[in-house]
Parts: sequence; structure tokens; C-alpha cells
Amino acid sequence: MEKRGQFTSKFGFIMASIGSAIGLGNLWGFPYKAGMSGGFAFILVYLIFVALVGFPLMICEFAIGRKAKSNQIYAYKKLNKKFAFVGITGTIAVFLILGFYSVLGGWVVNYTVKYATSIFSSANAISAPEEYFNSFVSNEAVALIFLIIFMVLTVIIVIGGIENGIEKSSKIMMPVLFFFLVIVIIRSVTLPGAEKGLEFLFKPDFSKLTPSTMGMALSQMFFSLSLGAGAMITYGSYLSNDDNIQSSSIIVPLLDTLAAILAGIAIFPAVFALGLEPTQGPSLMFITLPAIFNQMHMGNLFGFVFFALVLFASLSSSIALLEIASSFFMEHFKLKRKVIIPIIAAIITVLGIPVALGFGVLGDVKVMGMGFLDLYDFIGEYVLMTFGALATAFLIGWVVKPKEVIDEMEQGGKFKFVGKKYFSFTIKFIAPILIFIVMVMSVTSVF
Ligand code: PFF
Repeated sequence: MEKRGQFTSKFGFIMASIGSAIGLGNLWGFPYKAGMSGGFAFILVYLIFVALVGFPLMICEFAIGRKAKSNQIYAYKKLNKKFAFVGITGTIAVFLILGFYSVLGGWVVNYTVKYATSIFSSANAISAPEEYFNSFVSNEAVALIFLIIFMVLTVIIVIGGIENGIEKSSKIMMPVLFFFLVIVIIRSVTLPGAEKGLEFLFKPDFSKLTPSTMGMALSQMFFSLSLGAGAMITYGSYLSNDDNIQSSSIIVPLLDTLAAILAGIAIFPAVFALGLEPTQGPSLMFITLPAIFNQMHMGNLFGFVFFALVLFASLSSSIALLEIASSFFMEHFKLKRKVIIPIIAAIITVLGIPVALGFGVLGDVKVMGMGFLDLYDFIGEYVLMTFGALATAFLIGWVVKPKEVIDEMEQGGKFKFVGKKYFSFTIKFIAPILIFIVMVMSVTSVF
């Protein structure tokens, strides 16, 4: 078996973890959900969830991973044999999530290339966005080719290993992402009429805080922070005992949340300034935004900057997903990276095919009333990740006890864990109870 990889610097570890966290969830999920579900009221609830649930769970995942120095299934098993299934559900979640993420990533590659090759052209890169999108996604061959291209990019980075693949690429992609985000924000908020977009995003409306919007805020938080699927356990397992995890557990949720809010400030002022309707998901990114770039001076350049940013966000999440999906098989079957990673990537690509074709030939196929993209997202994000987060909070709070995590954080007195009282209290009482109540409320509100 190959030697286990390790992050070589704290900066590299933080960049990789932020890379896993910042992704499509921040760019096209959070801003729209916030705007439609109470603006600042939603953001406030989200921030409270991050502080009371996300932050202590982030500590747990980093610590569980670092202590076990293994994939998530073994890591849960080492803590308590009966909880190995949480590692299994987490692994299933990442297969499903990468199954749809890679399809979307493929579309992003297509748009990035389209804008990059039109920067110096005076004609719009995508002159009729709706037609372009529809014909692109309904062309099976094209949809599959871009899925494969995105997966190959992901494989190339992950095969490089923790230090030379994931850490190195994240150290470049994340700073560039934030820089590009700032450029787009400056352009967006200086358009005449931009205030209406800021109003959409921030104007508080507490009457919109219903059980179902709170449930949405909670699962959005897990998805966005990559919690409940073993992502941070896997990255934490590549940390050495000389690293102090405490600051990373604060910085990662903070920067992820900042990126989600900044994405809203980058997108909605421009949408409203140009008189378009706010949307979310694929149509926001692939139809509404290109329509905006068409009306903008130097729109092709801004289109390129924007899609390059989205590409970095999705790629840095997909490399995390592929690493997590492969790590159990790598360790269990004692296989080399360059053998197992392409195999797992091929399996996930096959899983992605129905999603890719779901916008074309398989457009009419519905499972439980959902298309494949929504189905994978529902099972992976809403069901499995929320379940994984609840099980982890219960396991640490009540079964193995918070002290186990605190000891791992403090390393026999080497480090001082400043927030340990807060951590013990939230992981034992607040996190499991809050997740449970919000889950029950939002499920029962559907019926
Ligand atoms: N956090 C990513 C996003 O916001 O798009 C998605 C994600 C990555 C979820 C890694 C789960 C995961 F393990």
C-alpha cells in the first residue's frame, strides 16, 4: 500500500477544506434560498445554525479524522463498532452528490471555454442563452463528453495525491476564486438599479421563517459546509498531530459563509439591475447570468471571470468528493491511487449518465416525482447528509462523549482548546436536539 498522504502546511489544509466547502451550494443555492425565504431573517437563522451546529460538527469531523488517520468508515468503526454505518451512508452520499456535481461541472467547463474563446470578440459569447442551454443539454453526445472532461480533470488532480494534487491545486484555486468574486461584485453593485438586488437578498421578512424554510436552512448549511458526508473526516485524516485544528474549525465555516453571502452580492444586484427575475440552480447560472453578460460592456470578459470562478468552486468540491469516495476502497483493498481513483471515477461517471441525459432523452423519466438531478440531490443532501450530521452529533455527544474530541484537540496539553465548554454543550445538547426538531418539523410540514 502507498504511504498515507499528509497536508504539508496549515494554509494548504485550510485552502483544501474551504475548497471542499465552497461550491455550487454557495453560488446558486444559498443566495436564492436567502432571497426567497426571508432575506436577512433567513441569513440570521443560517448564521445561528452555523454557530450552534456547524462549528461543533466541524471540530468533530476534523478530530475524528485526525485521530483515526483512516477513511471515514474505519474512523466511525474505531470510535464505536455500531456506528460504522454512518461512514457507509456518508460514502453513499458522496457517490450520489458527485454523480450530479460532475454533470453540472461539465456544463461549467463548456461555458468557461465558450467565454474564454470569446473574450476578444465583439459578438456575444452566447447570444441566445436559453436556446444555447437547451440545445446543449439535450444533445446527448455533448452532455456526456463534458461530463467526462470534468471527471478527467478531477481525476488528474486527485491522482496527484494529497500534497501534490489536492493541496497544491487548492492553494491556487481558492485565492483566485475570491479575487474573481470581488471583481464580479464590483461590476454588479455599480450597475444602475443594483439596490433592488441587495434589497431582495437582505431585506428581513420574519414571516417567511416557517418550519420548512428552517429545514432548508439547516440542510443547506450541512451541504455547504460539507458536513455529514465524511468530507472533513477524510481531510482531517491527512493532518499531522502537530497541527492545531481549532483555528481551522473557525476559519472554514466563516469563509464558506462569507463566500455564500458574497455570491449573493455578486449575482442578484446584476439580475435586478437588468430587470430579470431571480431564479436558482441551472437556470440562474446558465440562462439568467449569460443574458446579463450580453447586456454588459465587456460582457464576455466578465462572463469568463465568472465561469472560471464557478469552475474552481466546483472542481475544488469534486476533488474532495472523489477523494472521500475512493479513500475506503484505497485502504481496504490496499490499492494504489492511480489504480483505484480512475475506477471509482468511472463508476460515478456511469451514475452521472442518467443525470446528464435527464435534460434530454430521459427528460420525462421521474422517480418519486423527481428528475435524476433532484433525486440524487434529495437523497444525498437532504436525507443522507442530515442523517450523518445527526448521527455524528449523537455519537460524540452521548456515546463516546465530547472529552474524546477535546483530548484529540489538545494533544496531551500541547494545544489549548479555548472553546471546550462551548463545544461540549453544543455538541451534547444543542446540535442533536436542534437537528432532530428541525427535521421533524420540516418533514411534518410537508404533510
Ligand atoms: N460543499 C459543497 C457545495 O457547497 O457545493 C458540496 C459538497 C462537497 C458536499 C463535498 C459534500 C461534500 F462532501
